[in-house]
Amino acid sequence: MDFKRGDFPDGFIFGAATAAYQIEGHSFGGAGPTHWDTFAAGPGNVVRAEDGAIACDHYHRYAEDLDLLKNGNFDAYRFSTSWARVMPDGRTVNTEGLDYYDRLVDAMLERGLKPFQTLYHWELPSALADKGGWMNRDTCDAFADFTDVITDRIGDRVASIATINEPWCVSYLSHFIGHHAPGLRDIRATARAMHHINLAHGRAMTRLRGKGMKNCGIVLNFAHTEARDDSPPAIRAATISDAIANRWFIEAITKGKYPAEALEGLAQHMPAGWEDDMAEISQPIDFLGVNYYTRSIVAADPGGVWPHVAASEGPGEKTQMGWEIFPKGLHGFLTRMAQEYVADMPLYVTENGMAWDDTVADGAVADPVRTKFVSDHILATRQAIADGANVRGFFYWSLLDNYEWAFGYEKRFGMVHVDFETLKRTPKASYHALKEAIKRED
Ligand code: FCB
Repeated sequence: MDFKRGDFPDGFIFGAATAAYQIEGHSFGGAGPTHWDTFAAGPGNVVRAEDGAIACDHYHRYAEDLDLLKNGNFDAYRFSTSWARVMPDGRTVNTEGLDYYDRLVDAMLERGLKPFQTLYHWELPSALADKGGWMNRDTCDAFADFTDVITDRIGDRVASIATINEPWCVSYLSHFIGHHAPGLRDIRATARAMHHINLAHGRAMTRLRGKGMKNCGIVLNFAHTEARDDSPPAIRAATISDAIANRWFIEAITKGKYPAEALEGLAQHMPAGWEDDMAEISQPIDFLGVNYYTRSIVAADPGGVWPHVAASEGPGEKTQMGWEIFPKGLHGFLTRMAQEYVADMPLYVTENGMAWDDTVADGAVADPVRTKFVSDHILATRQAIADGANVRGFFYWSLLDNYEWAFGYEKRFGMVHVDFETLKRTPKASYHALKEAIKRED
């Protein structure tokens, strides 16, 4: 890789990320059914109808996986705590689930890894989905109760807490585009989910502050958005697209308002009295997590429904997801966040990574495209720091190949290969390359 640890400010954190439903295996330990189990069981929703029943069996193999982080010279581990494991029906505590996260956090600390927790990475308990999930305002209070329960158990040992992972995916991708659970294509449901997920963040922040918790924030995803050409319709489409994907959540959280370009289509579908929630939503946070993967080229789609946007990939090299590799976009968001929204507040790259059709040959996995991808995105991060963004860490997505949501187990994002028949782990060449780079001070 074209960088070393010594190129970064003291204390800069190199980590790797995962999420509970994608790796743990939700068919044991008393975990309850989630809306991803039912979404996967519907026709055509998930490749091969795969679900997270076994996943990487991290629930039983976490010690081996944490050893991979320690031996890879990582400083921190971004993990999530499954709501459906801790409260199988969304409300009643499963002691076995709490015990598991207790053991997991201790095992991180024993290995010198800083635990970076995410409270909600998408496994909504089915009992709450039955009552309307994120369309229902009551889900926000249930989430705040979950926040209390898990924080009372492990909050004394985690280094950082993010409330929600990627609210755009939780709401717009899941309720308007229909690509993620619950798989709706309903603008009214979307507007409600886009507001309630912010309120859930605010409610959780209120509880965390009530307990005196520090280092609390949220993880947002961003897609570099460009107009396909400089025609007014394309520019307008890019502006609306940017407002929905890149501005809705950060403006609510840092400025207490929603962008007019997005409200234009959503206002009439918003829940009554939403304005009164904006103060709770915009209470101070301690850090912002930035997830970044690719660029989106946008044109007007006059024939379709609001927001009349047609998005496509840019011309550069693509990953196994078909996503264009575009490191400049990461630099762009880190500096944009600092300049327009968070000033000096700590930023973390909480996810960045790529999928490739990796295979094991002679006990090794050659993944040169990923090695270059990671190096280029870490260099983009370093440039953002040089340009004034207070970036404190970088987490690769993901430590392990895992359940990639609607794509099932087909897309391999890991730095460690997982054979889903035997569950054997094999570190890829990129893992070894990053391990060396983050060891070197000079
Ligand atoms: C992000 C998700 C994460 C993973 C990556 C590839 O949107 O947070 O769970 O699926 O994309």
